[in-house]
Amino acid sequence: MPESLSAKHQTRDDDPRRLAVFLSGSGRTLVNLQQKIDARELDAEIISVVASRPCLGIERAGELGLPTEVRSDPFTSETLLEHVKEHRIGLIVLAGYLSLLPIPPQLERRVLNIHPGLLPGDGTGGRFGGRGMYGKRVHQAVLDAGEQESGCTVHYCSAQYDAGPVILREACPVLPDDDPAALAARVFELELEAYPKALQLAIDEHRRKE
Ligand code: GRF
Repeated sequence: MPESLSAKHQTRDDDPRRLAVFLSGSGRTLVNLQQKIDARELDAEIISVVASRPCLGIERAGELGLPTEVRSDPFTSETLLEHVKEHRIGLIVLAGYLSLLPIPPQLERRVLNIHPGLLPGDGTGGRFGGRGMYGKRVHQAVLDAGEQESGCTVHYCSAQYDAGPVILREACPVLPDDDPAALAARVFELELEAYPKALQLAIDEHRRKE
């Protein structure tokens, strides 16, 4: 195991390598991030894991020995800032988190999300993002639209669902026999590499500003 960041970097409270992971689902994204950290492919440490409801993801976080919290009440911008300050969090990483976070100005470009579709990055969620567009619904919409390409998008979060500045997109083909499950599996394979890569880009961007 790498030496703990919390022990190594005690100088800055908002060191971007100090991550809080927020989730509501099965936690595959969280487990992948921890594996990339353990493999030293991502220079970060998961400081806290917050779930919006009891779920498999929070159980997996516990099995990984990560500090966990279930918060069923929605965050306000004040309670979000409190969490960040209390745990000295640099970046909040949404990993299948199904509530919209009220992001205060202090946390702009400090909250990231991955979406299982290609977002336009024009300040809207486009045809495959936005409120209610998550999981299977995204893939069904892509198939219904007859798209030949889908993929994933990592972006900073803003006040609207799936509408903040894009960090990176990765694309894959949509195949003629695809159903939502087959397309979801192909997109998720992209996510496993795209999210750690985008996170490292975000961490590097923040550290250059230090
Ligand atoms: C991923 O498909 C991601 O794109 C979306 O939520 C899903 C999370 O999956 N934001 P899991 O809960 O990590 O298994």
